[in-house]
Amino acid sequence: MPVTEDLMKEHQLILKYADLMERCADYSLKHPGAVVLLENAAGFIGFIKEFADHFHHAKEEDILFRYLEVPGVLTHCNPVPQMLMEHEKAREFVRNMERALQQKALNDLVDNTARYARLLKEHIYKEDNILYPMGERGLSDEDKTALLKEYVQADQRVDSQAIWAKYEALYMELEPVLNALAD
Ligand SMILES: [Fe+2]
Ligand SMILES: [Fe+2]
Repeated sequence: MPVTEDLMKEHQLILKYADLMERCADYSLKHPGAVVLLENAAGFIGFIKEFADHFHHAKEEDILFRYLEVPGVLTHCNPVPQMLMEHEKAREFVRNMERALQQKALNDLVDNTARYARLLKEHIYKEDNILYPMGERGLSDEDKTALLKEYVQADQRVDSQAIWAKYEALYMELEPVLNALAD
């Protein structure tokens, strides 16, 4: 009974946005004065705060990690503190992005957007390939049943269907904008 399947699906959308952010930041570096990142940063920040952090990271921190940190579940090592530190680091980059956007400080915005995207890509790789498989192996069936119930409640609390629809639609809008930019 897998308990990380939905989280891995959420990772896929986060990775798609991380890709757009990286492309936007790259383009801005190669074309000084380009406004594409300034114009789209509010959408990126909205996605990060509402989907990646408030929805996805909250499910990890409030539910999955709590179960994983029960003694005996993770036997070899405990990567949870490192994952929590990376969530905090990500929040710092987003705060910096917001400040840079407000001040129209393009260099800072480019820098923090690129750092956020890189951090999240590495973070998700570690969760998908190390932490989540450890959790699938270590959690008992009783734990998994209880955990899945808590996910359902979390999904209802934030109306996950609505935010999935909102941010899949935004991605469909943003991707062609980025594709239309010449190198
Ligand atoms: Fe995470
Ligand atoms: Fe995650």
